[in-house]
Amino acid sequence: MRAVDVIIKKRDKGELTGEEIEFFVDGFTRGDIPDYQVSAWAMAVLLNGMTPSETTNLTLAMAHSGEILDLTGVVDIAVDKHSSGGVGDKTSLVVLPVVAACGLPCGKMSGHGLGFSGGTLDKMESIPGYRVNLTTDEFKQQLRDIGIVLTGQSLDLAPADGKLYALRDVTGTVQSIPLIASSIMSKKIASGAQAIVLDVKVGLGAFMETLDEARVLANLMTDIGRLAGREVVALLSDMNQPLGDAVGNSLEVVEAINTLHAHGPADFREHCLQVSAHMLVLGQLAQDLESGRRMAETAIATGTAFEKFRVLVHAQGGDVSFVDVPGKFPRAKFVEVVKADRNGNLSQVNARMIGEATVALGAGRARKGDPVDHAVGFIIHRKVGDQVEKGEPLFTIHANDAAKQIEVQEGLRAAFGWSDTPVAALPLFY
Ligand code: URA
Repeated sequence: MRAVDVIIKKRDKGELTGEEIEFFVDGFTRGDIPDYQVSAWAMAVLLNGMTPSETTNLTLAMAHSGEILDLTGVVDIAVDKHSSGGVGDKTSLVVLPVVAACGLPCGKMSGHGLGFSGGTLDKMESIPGYRVNLTTDEFKQQLRDIGIVLTGQSLDLAPADGKLYALRDVTGTVQSIPLIASSIMSKKIASGAQAIVLDVKVGLGAFMETLDEARVLANLMTDIGRLAGREVVALLSDMNQPLGDAVGNSLEVVEAINTLHAHGPADFREHCLQVSAHMLVLGQLAQDLESGRRMAETAIATGTAFEKFRVLVHAQGGDVSFVDVPGKFPRAKFVEVVKADRNGNLSQVNARMIGEATVALGAGRARKGDPVDHAVGFIIHRKVGDQVEKGEPLFTIHANDAAKQIEVQEGLRAAFGWSDTPVAALPLFY
């Protein structure tokens, strides 16, 4: 079998067999199939799609491209969560300590930013010293010892996804339902999760812009998970506007810390409470969503969730003084509050434009392996449905480059849509 024939078959809209998919995944995991062929193949998949059976085969091949973590004996029920990617989505930074504080041990492997969407690892790496490269043994030991882990995908787990993910980020091949479904589910299967809450984002700042596409992705992922013997719940959540107020790595860490102190933005807090409640139900610690939510609220109100976050940061080598005094995070050189230039009701706060502007400021990558600037980003002061008066703060830019700041400032004004009549607030979940 030759890699080029697999690429040609997909280019010509053929259905790949399980054997062809395994050959291709094995080849690029071992480094026998070079990046340029993998990129061409990914583009063919993006353009021509995959059948559910091809996607399932791809998921299983990627999951088995490395070790499959066995968490029996480490936790009673391994519950995990994963978001399909969005703008301002710092949910794991709050939900993990919340559920762990409630007594549900939770170890998660996250990713770096992908396209315009932020990545949990880039956010956590803004805490000096924080390690995201734990080995599988360290992962298990930490989960046993403190009940919480938030790290990168270990090289031993689903290495095929690790390679493909980094290539997709810089080859315009992120937005593909089969590639997203197999990327997420291969990681979850490999990391030993028995029950999974999938947060499927929908809207302008998500990879799935319509509810129909998001449903297809959610159903595909739940089907793959169930086929692999996992219990899966998928939520469809809004990503037309950023989640919370902060977009950008350390700005989001600070917002997560505020939320753990019960001072975070209401939409983000509510989102975290609902995701936590689902995890607590799947982990059999809560009988229903209502009691799961109350447990999560208590973990925040009593400070136990914040304490878990501190313990997590300390365990992974991060400087906890930044968690205790978030003012220590380096501030960008240019911080400017941009004010509304008219009265009106906000009808759009375009998450995609904000995500792209954040990457343009340096918070994301243009090429594989590029460094990211942790300090830059935006604070969005107003949301869809808000009535705004001329002169009120609309957003704050944090930039380290004066030219880039000017460039994104005007562009970002266009992310805000206006109406003269009242506009309903957007729902958090669909
Ligand atoms: N999250 C992932 O892990 N993979 C994707 O492809 C998209 C979001």
